[in-house]
Amino acid sequence: MDRDRLERTARLLVAPGKGILAADESTGTMKKRLDGIQVASTAENRRAYRELMFTAPGVEAHISGVILYDETIRQSAADGTPFPRLLAGRGIAPGIKVDTGAKPLAGFGGEVVTEGLDGLRERLAEYRDLGATFAKWRAVIAIGDGLPTAGCVAANAHALARYAALCQDAGIVPIVEPEVLMDGDHTLERCDAVTEAVLSAVYAELRAQRVHLEGTLLKPNMVISGQACPVQADVRTVAEATVRCLRRTVPGAVPGIVFLSGGQTPEQATAHLSAMNALGTHPWELSFSYGRALQQPVLQAWKGQAANAAAAQAAFRHRARCNGAARDGTYTAAMESAAA
Ligand code: 13P
Repeated sequence: MDRDRLERTARLLVAPGKGILAADESTGTMKKRLDGIQVASTAENRRAYRELMFTAPGVEAHISGVILYDETIRQSAADGTPFPRLLAGRGIAPGIKVDTGAKPLAGFGGEVVTEGLDGLRERLAEYRDLGATFAKWRAVIAIGDGLPTAGCVAANAHALARYAALCQDAGIVPIVEPEVLMDGDHTLERCDAVTEAVLSAVYAELRAQRVHLEGTLLKPNMVISGQACPVQADVRTVAEATVRCLRRTVPGAVPGIVFLSGGQTPEQATAHLSAMNALGTHPWELSFSYGRALQQPVLQAWKGQAANAAAAQAAFRHRARCNGAARDGTYTAAMESAAA
């Protein structure tokens, strides 16, 4: 294992002012996104949409890496340049989602475990040859009546650690993503307790599987009120609770924490990240790896029309710039109206 290279790659992904675009929607998820703007989910439409984001002028100032999907890493821009080469040429690291999705966990009604370990060593070697320098694996933990169970948390933590070790063996930086969902009417306090338990289990497993923490990134949920909870915590409360929870669970050896947006609006996700960075000292870089919170405005501006491509790219550049400001706590709501 080339530890120095893994550490360098991880640190570049959380360079000051920069974060990650998650554009690794599976074909099924991409169909849902395109249905939302009445665009047919053909391979060509998915390709054209990704090209629009990957070629948006100026975004390399705030985007350090892009997570691709198996279909996307094999696609090319209209001029024939393969997407991984196009991105790398702009100083943006190409990454790849390598899990094969969350499936029902046998014996545990209502809970899921993420699959994809079988054959992973071989798939990682192929993705590395296609240009990927980092990877992602998402575990999904639901909060509910009696959920999550310890069995579900343990199974997912173990799979994440096996994945991370295999990535590092292949010279690829693993993004470790245990997502506690915001679906439900639970309070912020419940999210806090579950997130603490999940992250504790994940770091125990990463240690047990001899993962080199300095060559990893963590992609967690924020500690936040359930989407249907009648009391919604304010931005400062979310920021303080999230950083406190991470301090209790994530070793300082981890170079960066790149949050998922998980269903927050683009503005909320940016405001929360900025508030955390404004709180001051913490041992890691706090950054973003947003999917929906970066892409929603892009899809809305594009609507599948080539004539809207420049406006869609401007929408992407705007969100990238706002999140870039959030990296040092200087995002303000005025940045939104200034662009409108
Ligand atoms: P969201 O930011 O839309 O949650 O997506 C991030 C991601 O990659 C989830 O796995």
